[in-house]
Amino acid sequence: MKTALITGASDGIGEQAATALAEQGWQVAVIGRNKERTAAVAKRLHAPYYLADFAKLGEVKALGLQLKRDFPRIDVLANNAGGMFKKQPLTEDGYEMSFQVNHLAHFLLTKILLTNLIESKAKVISTSSVAHKTIGLLFKLDDVKNPKHFSQHLAYGNAKLANILFTRELHRRYHAQGISAAAFHPGVVATSFAKDTTSFMRVLYHTSLRRAPGVITAQDGARTLIWLAQNAPGLTWQAGGYYAKEAPARCTRKAKNAALAQGLWEMSETLVAPFLDEERHPS
Ligand SMILES: NC(=O)c1ccc[n+]([C@@H]2O[C@H](COP(=O)([O-])OP(=O)(O)OC[C@H]3O[C@@H](n4cnc5c(N)ncnc54)[C@H](OP(=O)(O)O)[C@@H]3O)[C@@H](O)[C@H]2O)c1
Repeated sequence: MKTALITGASDGIGEQAATALAEQGWQVAVIGRNKERTAAVAKRLHAPYYLADFAKLGEVKALGLQLKRDFPRIDVLANNAGGMFKKQPLTEDGYEMSFQVNHLAHFLLTKILLTNLIESKAKVISTSSVAHKTIGLLFKLDDVKNPKHFSQHLAYGNAKLANILFTRELHRRYHAQGISAAAFHPGVVATSFAKDTTSFMRVLYHTSLRRAPGVITAQDGARTLIWLAQNAPGLTWQAGGYYAKEAPARCTRKAKNAALAQGLWEMSETLVAPFLDEERHPS
């Protein structure tokens, strides 16, 4: 039986991907933040559930250590939780919310699970966004974790660019050891996205506009994630790449910048180091 660990599986795209894979006989771990929603999805899928608030790296560490014990074999890690967040205080760890929830928490989770992922020859799939092209253009390594001038759109675009840079560097470092990484854009998907923002996107996603042409259902938004999970890297898709609509997609030059990807990885390693002290990882 194949195993998929899916973050953000309590709602939206993650919930639909978890449902589809569970229906196809996969063992799915439903990972969420909201206990009621997460437990309800898990109950429906007869799957175990795990809770962590990714705005708290201590909770992410505890989640990672538990998953590492419970799943020696992992076929797919879907780093999917996230979204756009309005201006608010830095997280208790001292970072901008979008950067931490979309990128840094998943970086830590992946690092903690690394040995299991390598031994399982796992796929690590990150839910990015076309937003990396439109509103992720001002990404600056020095500024991204705690920006001087906050904008919810810029922070989101930067975080989704970080998802692609993470994928590229994970591929460069660990593909030879067995990990196949991919990032994807799910489409414009009618989910709970942007519900707590003051962005125009809240209007798009939470009024009758969500039924406008071009806005797809969560079920359809999960398709590329499911396709990446089910199909073989090297045959159907190439590891290290960026996808949309179940096919390779174009990303920006910045998203292909190897030095930036390496810089983000090294910075992220420094930021999560306090949460990795008891762990030993392949370098
Ligand atoms: N919808 C779109 O059009 C669109 C487009 C491009 C990319 N994306 C990306 O797709 C992914 C899934 O979003 P969605 O559209 O399915 O939105 P959604 O329905 O709002 O689902 C978001 C998921 O992320 C989880 N999450 C949010 N904040 C969290 C935190 N602090 N700690 C742990 N989990 C947290 C939520 O958990 P709880 O419900 O348990 O709080 C939920 O399961 C996100 O990465 C988003 O950026 C979405």
